[in-house]
Amino acid sequence: MESKREKFSSGLTVFLATLSSAVGLGNIWMFPYVTGKNGGAAFIIIYLICVVLVGMPVLISEFIIGRGTRKNVYGAISTITNKKKFKSIGVIAILATYSLLFFYTVVVGWVYSYVFKALVGSFKGVTLEQASNIFNTTSAGAISSIIWQFIAVAVGGAILVLGVKGGIEKLTKTLMPVLVILLVVCAFTSLTLPGSMEGVKFLIKPDFSKVHIGVVLSALGLAFFKLSVGTGTMITYGSYYTDDNNLIATASKVAISDTIVSLLAGLAIFPAVFSFGMEPSSGPGLLFNTVPLIFSKMPGGWILSIIFFLLTSMAATMAMISLLEVLIVFFNEELKIERKKAVIINIIIITIIGSLAALSGNPNGVLGNKLIFGKTFFDLFDLLVSKVFLPVNGFLIILLVGYFANKKFVNDQLTNNGTLNNEKIANALIFIMKYIAPVLIVVVFLKSFI
Ligand code: PFF
Repeated sequence: MESKREKFSSGLTVFLATLSSAVGLGNIWMFPYVTGKNGGAAFIIIYLICVVLVGMPVLISEFIIGRGTRKNVYGAISTITNKKKFKSIGVIAILATYSLLFFYTVVVGWVYSYVFKALVGSFKGVTLEQASNIFNTTSAGAISSIIWQFIAVAVGGAILVLGVKGGIEKLTKTLMPVLVILLVVCAFTSLTLPGSMEGVKFLIKPDFSKVHIGVVLSALGLAFFKLSVGTGTMITYGSYYTDDNNLIATASKVAISDTIVSLLAGLAIFPAVFSFGMEPSSGPGLLFNTVPLIFSKMPGGWILSIIFFLLTSMAATMAMISLLEVLIVFFNEELKIERKKAVIINIIIITIIGSLAALSGNPNGVLGNKLIFGKTFFDLFDLLVSKVFLPVNGFLIILLVGYFANKKFVNDQLTNNGTLNNEKIANALIFIMKYIAPVLIVVVFLKSFI
């Protein structure tokens, strides 16, 4: 049965819920290691340009589609257009959401297991070698990685059974502010370590010699990933927005806050990386190898490590539930499957197929050396999402809103039926949507593949 549609209750909860989807492992796990791999400050500058000129316009386009139709991603797109090529947005969104969840939940599982490890004191006095051993056993163990992944998906599912108001809204209202405060504490502690200034330099002194088109595609993919666009998440959350919400203002606030959280995570991690003489470009294990070591060297480090991983697990959980919500409303509204049943079906699908990613997240894992097109399952899902599904869908979404959707419909959503008096900003935005964002996506996408 289709359940009655809910709405977020105020402007503040709209903002916090949207931010809670944007802020997640992308900020705390991915942003630092992708920045580390791509040369630091120069990458951050390109990333910021991608956020402003491409990420935000796509984000606002998704809000327009979601609030304007108040439907799940597939239903929303079908309401706006009956052109076949645009209808594929709904299908790509669902595929992207699944692919993303298959590997995202693996990392959420690692984080949950780190909360547990921090609690029982496994990180007390660890050396660099011990820290990387802990990460290896966590991510290479077959049974443990599948079980932790399952726990992560099940926790997300349980929250979503409670619905939009009971689940998403209550959780985000309490946790988002706590999370930001704790990240500031971590960044501050990391900055007081000896030799930490090298890490700060890495974050603010650009070296453009490392920049090539692949780096720009990574920055574009990260901008989409960070703002949760291309998967239909922001169409889905937009469909719960209040009628009087200023979409452009909400998108700006979310993008700015999300960037601040990413930079805070960078400030927590890189000073420590340099202080301990680690490699900033060491990849996905960066967070898991450095953070236990940072805290092991610090007075009160035990408590701080618990807080840090708890915080990361909260952020990751909230981003994960925004992805699950895309699937659950889709099942509910399009396939007429009741919410609770939809949650259970999706937990099963994600745990079964996602286990391919769980078993290949570490080269020493059971499927760690099984390569498809030269990639492990884990990397393949990641690559498909960040470099194909999200940019392609972002492109289609922005074309749809910029050129093919009803002009009055778009304008009414941007100006709240003319009540906001923001015609100038709305027009500038439409210009970017039409002439700048799609061109940039195509150029970056084609150049990096040719
Ligand atoms: N934005 C989330 C993060 O940074 O961790 C991840 C994410 C959530 C990506 C939802 C895409 C999405 F649709």
